[in-house]
Amino acid sequence: MRILGIETSCDETAAAVVENGTRVLSSVVGSSLSFHRKYGGIIPEIAFRKQLETIGQIVDCAINESGVQLKKMDAIAVTQGPGLAGSLLVGISFAEALALTSTKPLIRVDHLSGHLYSAVLSGQRKIRMPVIGLVVSGGHTGLYVIRSFTDIELLGSTQDDACGEAFDKVAKILGLGYPGGPVIEKLASAGDRNAIRLRCSNTKEPFDFSYSGIKTAVLYYAQKNRLGTYAPEGHKPDTGRIADVCASFQDAALRALVEKTLAACRCKRIRSVVVGGGVAANQVLRDMFAAASKQNGISATFPSQEHCMDNAAMIAGIAYHLSRGKT
Ligand code: KG4
Ligand code: ZN
Repeated sequence: MRILGIETSCDETAAAVVENGTRVLSSVVGSSLSFHRKYGGIIPEIAFRKQLETIGQIVDCAINESGVQLKKMDAIAVTQGPGLAGSLLVGISFAEALALTSTKPLIRVDHLSGHLYSAVLSGQRKIRMPVIGLVVSGGHTGLYVIRSFTDIELLGSTQDDACGEAFDKVAKILGLGYPGGPVIEKLASAGDRNAIRLRCSNTKEPFDFSYSGIKTAVLYYAQKNRLGTYAPEGHKPDTGRIADVCASFQDAALRALVEKTLAACRCKRIRSVVVGGGVAANQVLRDMFAAASKQNGISATFPSQEHCMDNAAMIAGIAYHLSRGKT
């Protein structure tokens, strides 16, 4: 079964063709990131205008690269949410029109389920259900029990900022640009993670997350020590101390993810984890999970780097299971 997937929930415009849920025949991702950079975050107006301009070409490109004609596809899948309203509308209306004119069924897919599926898509190993799922992206941070890809239960989620959002905001405070994750990871490698005492706030519910407190702690530290955007004009950036802030923040932010995921595994007596979303690209997070998994007899599966960020292959992949009503 071949499914054409379309994803436009944030700044990316993506299309992909996936066969039988795992074989990626094509995956094309266009991004308007360069147009947002100077504003320090995603501007929804710019995102959906760029998506309107490019969606036709990107879908054509994915179809051509897959070598499967549109008339030979079995279904069209599209992200229905959550995401930016205007951006979602571009993808949904395009997919609806395409499904109507090509008389294909349209499968509507939850974006977060797509992220949870992305580790399966990368296909290094077979994942046995049930698993604990962790979505950690720019807009969401949540823990799930996945019994099948049509039976996903939310255990807890962030009560304020998402983890990726905290990376982006901390980078902004330190004057490092957008997006924050990759640059913080890079600078952190030269810093001391024990230099500054930072930790994520406790939450009332054990599987919820909170990232706004740690972000504010970095803000106060930067103000007090005149770092990043708080440095006096004309001063040379204190790169050593900025690296220490990055390392200390990254360590605390990622440690909370690992600790809560392992606690969920213990509570639900589940020994397998899948991780998805942009922050899953972080190598330190992968190493932390690898070490903790070994100690606790748990296996953690991550997507390939290209499937961490928003993409349409994860949407077409999970749509295969949704269309069949089972895993
Ligand atoms: O999943 P994604 O592409 O978009 C959403 O659905 O939100 O994730 C983007 C987020 C951004 O916040 C970005 O800073 C973060 O993922 N990110 C990272 C890394 N690469 C991207 N965070 C930490 N470390 C990274 N290497
Ligand atoms: Zn996403």
